[in-house]
Amino acid sequence: MESTVDRGRLRELMRREHDRFVADHPRSGELFERGKTNLLAGVPMPWMTEWAGPYPVFVAEAEGARFTDVDGRTYIDFCLGDTGAMPGHAPKMAVEAIAEQAGKGITLMLPTEDSIWVGAEMQRRFGLPYWQFCLTATDANRFTLRLARAITGRPKVLVYSWCYHGSVDETIITLENGVPTTRPGNVGPAVSPPETTRVVEFNDVAALEDALAHEDVACVLAEPALTNIGIVPPEPGYHDALRELTRRYGTYLVIDETHTICAGPGGATRAWGLRPDFLTIGKPLASGVPAACYGMTQEVADRVQTYMGSLPATDVGGVGGTLSGNALSLAVMRATLEHVLTDEAFDRMVDLGGRWADGVKGVIEARGLPWTIQRIGARAEYWFTPTAPRTGGEAATVDDHELARFTHLYALNRGILLTPFHNMALMSPSTTEDDVDEHTKVFDEMAGELTA
Ligand SMILES: Cc1ncc(COP(=O)(O)O)c(C=O)c1O
Repeated sequence: MESTVDRGRLRELMRREHDRFVADHPRSGELFERGKTNLLAGVPMPWMTEWAGPYPVFVAEAEGARFTDVDGRTYIDFCLGDTGAMPGHAPKMAVEAIAEQAGKGITLMLPTEDSIWVGAEMQRRFGLPYWQFCLTATDANRFTLRLARAITGRPKVLVYSWCYHGSVDETIITLENGVPTTRPGNVGPAVSPPETTRVVEFNDVAALEDALAHEDVACVLAEPALTNIGIVPPEPGYHDALRELTRRYGTYLVIDETHTICAGPGGATRAWGLRPDFLTIGKPLASGVPAACYGMTQEVADRVQTYMGSLPATDVGGVGGTLSGNALSLAVMRATLEHVLTDEAFDRMVDLGGRWADGVKGVIEARGLPWTIQRIGARAEYWFTPTAPRTGGEAATVDDHELARFTHLYALNRGILLTPFHNMALMSPSTTEDDVDEHTKVFDEMAGELTA
């Protein structure tokens, strides 16, 4: 890929930012070293080593759109736990619901009334009438793939190259020169994903039809727009073709709204008029308390119930989880949907997403950088390429890891946290116009230094 900046200058600035980070974060550095005694690589999960600095900042506390680290530095948080904290950190109504429900019982293996409220609210937002609950979006996707295979009797699923739907075995696959290939980094797969999965590029209608025409695909698992290799939006007409082809070849359509909920209160499904057979979502639903769910149409629900009714037992077949649908998750989901991620909150968040994107675009134009910007509602990001990629494969080839690490570290050193792995910012109900403008200012300084 052709570089859009002077690499020598970039490395020199990166060394400076690295040294500044180390000087400013001594306590995080100490904790990171101490963590190595009992934590692999010094962190609770391996991906926490992938932040742009030499070690992650350790958090002291967080509220709204801000957090403070153990060195006493405060940040505007545009990462928001990669959507898990989209409602903002510790939103008052969710915290109250947590305290209240924790005092009344957390998990019982019995339903609570909140589940009925949340089921009805999910129908209001996404249109699908029937819902089930679990703890993570990964599980919502895993369970849905199983149900789709079970009721269709078909062995395969279809996903897009460079998609991400959580740690779901069948989805860790890409196209390499047109050949379905296990995605690099797949850890200890039980089965090679090309055996379970057909994979096509997003926005490629002809490839989709070829794959579905085998009539062995139980379901397509799709984000409405790819968001995990950067934002790759659907081209005009793509979703109509996807819906028409899945119906024609007897394949169910599963829409994963875990990230595209940023499009509005009913995600891209409502904002763009999609008509999925199943819908999955997790992460922000309970303000960060583990909670996820999957919905289905009347037709799918009838088939699922007939299928489940035919089984000797429904608790050991791969769709379950003792803590799934627990009282605490449901109570906090209710509080979050009723009081925090409201329709009005989305209006503000989407406006802020526009302000963030306009600010960055203005800098890119003023500085004459060959970069571009993408946005879905309350989520926006910049790309180091003059034209936006139209497939996951294209997006993967234009990724500039070195430059992205620099822009992230530059922002972090000036009190701004972006989502790692891409240059993405998400707005919460607590984010302010000043927060957005502060990012624009820092982005402009960074661009100015890079092009000086
Ligand atoms: C679109 C999408 N679906 C599902 C998941 C899985 O979420 P979790 O890791 O909370 O299970 C992710 C995680 O990033 C995601 O981006």
